Amino acid sequence: MTFRERIDEIIHHEPPALVPEMVKSVLIDSIKDGSLDVPEAFKRARPDAYARRLLHRDPEGQYTMVVMTWGPGQKTALHDHAGIWCVECVVDGRMEVSQYDLTSEHGGAFQFEQRKRILASRGSAGCLIPPFEYHVLANTLETPSVTLHVYGGEMDHCHVFEPSGDGSYKRVRKALCYNE
Ligand SMILES: [Fe+2]
Repeated sequence: MTFRERIDEIIHHEPPALVPEMVKSVLIDSIKDGSLDVPEAFKRARPDAYARRLLHRDPEGQYTMVVMTWGPGQKTALHDHAGIWCVECVVDGRMEVSQYDLTSEHGGAFQFEQRKRILASRGSAGCLIPPFEYHVLANTLETPSVTLHVYGGEMDHCHVFEPSGDGSYKRVRKALCYNE
């Protein structure tokens, strides 16, 4: 079974509450045993921003797999996952992952507290399950990094949180698309 078939099996047949952790285990195992294979064309960094390329879309719409390639210093804004669970793993290089908790929201002013900051190297994976879905990803290396993301649906938008200058953030909807 390929890693994709194993993930397919889990997502279509296991209880939804168990799926993210099971997908995470498969990703970690597949990187360890060399069966997780991302085509080279998916690993090219782009000069302007990180690349986001669709590796697989489930015909039944239950999940998508997206490869992201991060050039040196490329990063996301603080963002959510539009209520969709996600499992992310590092395929090449290393990523800095900063997790945030939403602590309050009043009249469009969002407050966050930063929690853990993790350096995730090749073979590490993590789950993002709503409502704990706020983070910043950054490639702090001088060389590209590659990550694989399994989403419990298709993430065609998310929300980014832009600093207002007074310690709070404002929420902005961001459409997401795929690169070539
Ligand atoms: Fe994310």
